[in-house]
Amino acid sequence: MPIPDAPAPAPADVIVVGGGVVGLATAWRLRAAGASVMVVDPDPGHGAGWAAAGMLAPVGEAHFGEEPLVLLALAAAARWPSFAAELTDETGLPTGLLSTGSLLIGADPSDRASIEDVLAFQRSLGLDAERLTATEARSAEPLLAPSVAGGARFPGDHQVDNRLVLAALRAACGGEGVSFVADRVARVDVEADRVTGVTLEGGATLAGSVVVVAAGSWSGTLGGLPDDVRPPVRPVHGVTLRLRAGDGTPWLGRVVRGLVHGRHCYVVPRADGSLVVGASAEERGFSDAVPARAVHDLLADARTLLPVVDEYELTEATAGLRPTTPDNAPVLGPAGPTGLVLATGHYRNGFLLAPLTADAVAGWVTGAPVPEVARSFGVGRFATGPVPAAP
Ligand code: GLY
Repeated sequence: MPIPDAPAPAPADVIVVGGGVVGLATAWRLRAAGASVMVVDPDPGHGAGWAAAGMLAPVGEAHFGEEPLVLLALAAAARWPSFAAELTDETGLPTGLLSTGSLLIGADPSDRASIEDVLAFQRSLGLDAERLTATEARSAEPLLAPSVAGGARFPGDHQVDNRLVLAALRAACGGEGVSFVADRVARVDVEADRVTGVTLEGGATLAGSVVVVAAGSWSGTLGGLPDDVRPPVRPVHGVTLRLRAGDGTPWLGRVVRGLVHGRHCYVVPRADGSLVVGASAEERGFSDAVPARAVHDLLADARTLLPVVDEYELTEATAGLRPTTPDNAPVLGPAGPTGLVLATGHYRNGFLLAPLTADAVAGWVTGAPVPEVARSFGVGRFATGPVPAAP
């Protein structure tokens, strides 16, 4: 007996391309605002956000030349406590939000000097960053190696458990009636300068009057996007490790970021005593292989700062692809044809920026207020203007 074709899904008000932390948070917010929402992703929650550590680090991730991004990151961090509380209220699920602050520790005097430069920059922006001597650092975190050279404390940089947040967002979306299509989008469909939906890789089409591009590193590869609004996103490969505490192993009390002989790493403790150690950063195209060297370097750097790492059991090494733009800031907002909205390029800050991004997109789509700080991250900032005439 022939198997009848599955009925085509009903047209959505909004199709969200990508079910990572940004896509899921956005879908949840849009649905709560009354839109009918469909998320298209072959494996929601298992992209870069699965590999991530979940640090909410507006200060620790503040870099020279990225002042506009710092303002966005601070505004996003302020939204996290209520976002996490709402997510837990609605689903009964935890997010692992731990407000214990972070340390940045230099392994040797040259690392310490580099941290001093970063501290001067952070303090020039009025960010909450305190210098720590080696003794102060070790009294803040007694598991640090006696050899560390000191560093800094960022009292406002916290963490969530990335995988708990993803599970809670899936549940919240499901509970609100967001529908999921397990497939890849090949193309955004546009007619008469207006979005009409998407075409999937298998050729099926889904109708929708708004398409939100939240496809992480793949956002720039979608067909159908006009060149002048195609987000300039590329993947930056990162490896994280997961480690489990053995019986009687002492637990780390807070996030420790490190500069170890010039190399960056972080060690993030979870509420169950396990650790996430990260992260490498390499340009390797779309490969998600885990290079043995990255595992070696991360373990070597983590145990230089925290010798207790030797007592943990390595349970996982995972690679993720950070969606990165030329200025390391996200691409947000309506662009090009009516109904197209970009929400991508969150690079190292996907979890931190997700609540603010979701509220901004919900505002752009439904007419609700858009956080002012989000408005300066349109794709238009990458446009190359007319070449000025020679003098
Ligand atoms: N935000 C941490 C990382 O990108 O590795």
